[in-house]
Amino acid sequence: MTETVTYELMVNGERRVVEGSWLGESLLFALRERLGLPGSKNACEQGECGSCSVRLDDRLVCACLVLAADAQGRSVTTVEGLTGADGDALTDVQRAFLDEGGVQCGFCTPGLVMSVHDLLDRNPTPDDLELREAISGNLCRCTGYGRILAAARTVVARRGEASLHESEGPA
Ligand code: FES
Ligand code: FES
Repeated sequence: MTETVTYELMVNGERRVVEGSWLGESLLFALRERLGLPGSKNACEQGECGSCSVRLDDRLVCACLVLAADAQGRSVTTVEGLTGADGDALTDVQRAFLDEGGVQCGFCTPGLVMSVHDLLDRNPTPDDLELREAISGNLCRCTGYGRILAAARTVVARRGEASLHESEGPA
């Protein structure tokens, strides 16, 4: 008989209990199949495509490569846990993807959105090479990456304009 375990995860700010898990189960499986969070996509299960990218504490990881039980006591953020500013259901990164046509079939989009957010949290003013490096682990079979890069550049530009207006204060 396969041994099962029960453990707790902190997912998108909520305490979640995972029951009946087998010891070698991946975080990706737990998120999608046990906790009903299908935003992180399952494609290669080998850390090659980036479609399952989530934040584990303050690091971007491939959820398919993390044992679910090892995430116990740590903070997991999935694409479902991202929220926009001022009541917007979408983040500025998600909106830029839509505005620039960076979404086609959409399969890769959650992973790419997580990667761009991760970069901008660490480096608010990335140059083009840094943008390209940040998404280099995310495979997209539809867009040819041009529109994805355009979306990433757009969000950097919009944030730059917003912080300029803030620093200038009211007219
Ligand atoms: S499914 Fe995790 S990297 Fe591809
Ligand atoms: S939009 Fe289809 S795989 Fe990227």
